[in-house]
Amino acid sequence: MTSVAIVTGASSGIGAATARRLAAEGFHVLAAARRTDRLAGLVKEIEAAGGTATAVACDVTSDESVAELAAAAQAAPGPVTLLVNNAGGARGLDPVESGAIGDWQWMYDVNVLGTLRATQALLPALEASGAGTIVIVSSTAGFTVYEGGGGYAAAKHAQTAIAGTLRLELCGRPVRVIEIDPGMVRTDEFGLVRFGGNADKAAATYAGVSEPLVAEDVADCIAWCATRPHHVNVDRLVVRPLAQAAQHKVHRVGQ
Ligand SMILES: NC(=O)c1ccc[n+]([C@@H]2O[C@H](COP(=O)([O-])OP(=O)(O)OC[C@H]3O[C@@H](n4cnc5c(N)ncnc54)[C@H](OP(=O)(O)O)[C@@H]3O)[C@@H](O)[C@H]2O)c1
Repeated sequence: MTSVAIVTGASSGIGAATARRLAAEGFHVLAAARRTDRLAGLVKEIEAAGGTATAVACDVTSDESVAELAAAAQAAPGPVTLLVNNAGGARGLDPVESGAIGDWQWMYDVNVLGTLRATQALLPALEASGAGTIVIVSSTAGFTVYEGGGGYAAAKHAQTAIAGTLRLELCGRPVRVIEIDPGMVRTDEFGLVRFGGNADKAAATYAGVSEPLVAEDVADCIAWCATRPHHVNVDRLVVRPLAQAAQHKVHRVGQ
């Protein structure tokens, strides 16, 4: 029977690439996000490539909406073996001194509580499958900090804490927990969301970096971890572009 994978934040970037890749690996994918028009296009694309997927409208900041995602998972055509908690992002690059409370609240709600909500709602189905996997897409900001990144790092550190805690708590049960920590990934919307739609500021993040990671690189890491034999638990995978030795050490051509 086809295994079912749920990907939150599947309407763009890493989530969409992960949905495409997991479908190509043979999963039936439940692609979840708020923008259903994007999801419908993604499902068509997956089907045209020979895979199967279902679009599910889901706002991970809403208990009711996540309950509907869990109901859709129950109705899916196979055991639910994989949850990829990918929905998230950054808002603002302000110092702690002047960071907007609303930005911090948004980052905490989507990244941290979104992961918590989806994990709580899907854990029974994952466990019932006998071979469940929970992936949490945190970030290198989940273990280091940088100026202006206080709110995002706080949220990603919290996701990292969830992953570590959950792995301890689920020990002995058939659900593994995998944390993916990407560094700089050039996706279309991450920077736009961070800088309130300012495309110049978003582009400046990648200035002079000839080959930042792209969404497919991270999807490749997620798919590799999730398709190892079930007794193999990749606790944490840190992945950066070659040009980024550390958060503060990026090789930029011409700079
Ligand atoms: N790009 C990077 O450099 C980078 C590096 C490390 C980690 N990450 C992490 O990787 C993940 C994906 O990032 P990305 O670069 O692919 O960014 P992105 O293209 O902006 O994708 C973010 C996704 O999250 C979804 N989302 C936002 N709010 C949501 C909500 N309330 N409910 C459900 N879905 C919601 C968005 O869909 P809708 O708006 O349609 O709901 C979108 O599909 C994030 O967790 C991010 O923090 C990114």
